[in-house]
Amino acid sequence: MVYLGVNIDHVATLRQARRTIEPDPVWAAALAELGGADAITIHLREDRRHIQDRDLEVLRRTVQVKLNLESAISLDMIAIACRVKPDQVTLVPEHREEITTEGGLDVVTHKSATSEAVQRLQDAGIAVSLFIDPSARQIDAAVDLSVAAVELHTGCYANAGNAVEQHEKLFELSRGATMARQAQLQLAAGHGLTYRNVIAVARLEGMGELNIGHSIVARAVLVGFTQAVREMKTLISQAD
Ligand code: PXP
Repeated sequence: MVYLGVNIDHVATLRQARRTIEPDPVWAAALAELGGADAITIHLREDRRHIQDRDLEVLRRTVQVKLNLESAISLDMIAIACRVKPDQVTLVPEHREEITTEGGLDVVTHKSATSEAVQRLQDAGIAVSLFIDPSARQIDAAVDLSVAAVELHTGCYANAGNAVEQHEKLFELSRGATMARQAQLQLAAGHGLTYRNVIAVARLEGMGELNIGHSIVARAVLVGFTQAVREMKTLISQAD
């Protein structure tokens, strides 16, 4: 069975557009759980453009499924994570000007900083996942860092311009998935997944969890959060 992690950052983005109190991502998390979400994912960015510290604190107390916090490898963010103790931290790259997370964390180039972040989180009893591109170099480096899990970046697959390119990118993901599985890493994937492109990724052998945000929140605006999550759950369960 492939688990579904629902990323609710966009709900906070809508709230921050008016710096008001609604819509509350805490409510969205509850509705996502009602729809069958297996995990709630939030990204507390250093610029606090969407999720706020208060959201993390309240969600830590209210979320009943796995709470997955995406974080940069900066020591300030890691200190927050160690204090609040989400069930899992996914280390991601962060650049101030980007619209969303572009590319995976380069754990080859940033090996020592990543290693320090991983160590601190693991010492605090938090499971660590690394959001990386599906390349052999990145997966090898992730293995060296002794993390529990990797999340493969599906952006290149999702943004492929035609069927041939999409097939190639799916093959890269499948090779990465095999490597991760052979190294006994728990396997997740995400970024740019939609109701149209999700099934092939859900079917990759050993796939454990998909993290999906934009497409679910976009649908939720029209059909409601619970239904949007339920429809995605039904879709990915077809991979079994
Ligand atoms: N996984 C990670 C690590 C991410 O940073 C994001 C985007 O915040 C997602 C998954 C979800 O991507 P999308 O919003 O495109 O579904």
